[in-house]
Amino acid sequence: MFVSQSFTPTPSGLACDDVTVEAIVGHVGTPVYLYSAHAIREAYRALDAAFSAYPHAIHYAMKANSTLSIVQLLRSLGSKVDANSGGEIQVARRAGYSPADIVFTGVGKTRDELRDAVADGIGTINAESAGELDRIAELAVAQGREARVALRVNPDIDAGSHPNISTGLRVNKFGVPLQEARTIYRERKARPGLRFVGVHIHIGSQITTVEPLRRAARTLAALALELRDDGFALEHLDVGGGLGIAYDGQAIVGPAEYAMTVIPEVERCGIPVVLEPGRSVVGHAGALIARVVDTKCYPDGRQFAVLDAGMGELMRPALYGSYHRIVPVRPRDGEESPWDVVGPICESSDVFATDRQLPPLAVDDLVAVLDAGAYGSVMASNYNRHLLPPEVLIDAGQWRIIRRRQTLDDVLALEA
Ligand code: LLP
Repeated sequence: MFVSQSFTPTPSGLACDDVTVEAIVGHVGTPVYLYSAHAIREAYRALDAAFSAYPHAIHYAMKANSTLSIVQLLRSLGSKVDANSGGEIQVARRAGYSPADIVFTGVGKTRDELRDAVADGIGTINAESAGELDRIAELAVAQGREARVALRVNPDIDAGSHPNISTGLRVNKFGVPLQEARTIYRERKARPGLRFVGVHIHIGSQITTVEPLRRAARTLAALALELRDDGFALEHLDVGGGLGIAYDGQAIVGPAEYAMTVIPEVERCGIPVVLEPGRSVVGHAGALIARVVDTKCYPDGRQFAVLDAGMGELMRPALYGSYHRIVPVRPRDGEESPWDVVGPICESSDVFATDRQLPPLAVDDLVAVLDAGAYGSVMASNYNRHLLPPEVLIDAGQWRIIRRRQTLDDVLALEA
């Protein structure tokens, strides 16, 4: 028996909030992303409650899942947002967020994106370099405005996560070296067009131990104290996101431990903290439901279950070798045995799991790939002309399509 915050086995197969997966699939087909609104609320509230003893603002990192209804749900809970592009800012605006509720992060912001962010009066632009600060200043002066900015520092701390999702090491492209930060702030203190409201750090994602998070918070607080000595009146310390989730269902650092790690570090500044969680808010809430379209067994005994979803729908296993639990929606009787669960894409890396112990699988069976709420649908592609899957939100025993399945006409509409 497995434990999931969102999907539970019932006599009618896997279900979420009293709605069976089969009932939804009967209407929308496969592959499909399902999300539990309840799980998103619980995760958001747990984090908010954990930080209740200290002034804080949660800016949900939209990059994890920016489907309009999900972003709106978070807004209804009181969340603000972290946007990583002009596109995400526009989605946030359409979801009803005011510019003041948005922090704009991200390497490689274009001049157009910066110009719009300044014009909109975005809450904080987290600059990634001295050059970016200078471009923001120029654009702000040209508009007769003052941009609210923070600088992202790169502290050279190993987050201990997969190299592809570590961002706080010297070799990573993110932020400015910590030792240069104070000078960059000082040199621009009186610069027209800039108002320094914070400092920013984000060392990586899927972080599963507290130590790197503690070191990052400590580093940021120390810098903030130096900047206070320099006469900067900072309004917040943005500690980024990164809190991991238990993809294997085992216990892991939770919101309470995270808060107990961060708060003592930032407390000595007395400056409110900004959090940018993505995965920990939506990760457990989602599952990708797929159908077995073929099975085969090699002479050496290796058996494959080929699904109608693969790296096109959920890229994480192919890109990072990520582990996602896979469960049959309605388990068949019989012994478990090792399966390679693979997708339909013409790439050998299109594999969800290798040698995974699963009960017997047959063509037309449904399986759920769990914990796919974060960095699932947002990273999907049309490779091999597969169409983007629909997304369904389950809430209080009801379900609704929050993004319909893409059609080939949608795709070809862009082509001459
Ligand atoms: N803030 C910044 C500046 C970030 O770069 C990120 C994630 C977050 C917040 C949110 O981090 P979270 O709380 O979700 O860990 N596609 C990868 C993850 C990439 C994370 C990118 N940055 C994956 O599927 O594991």
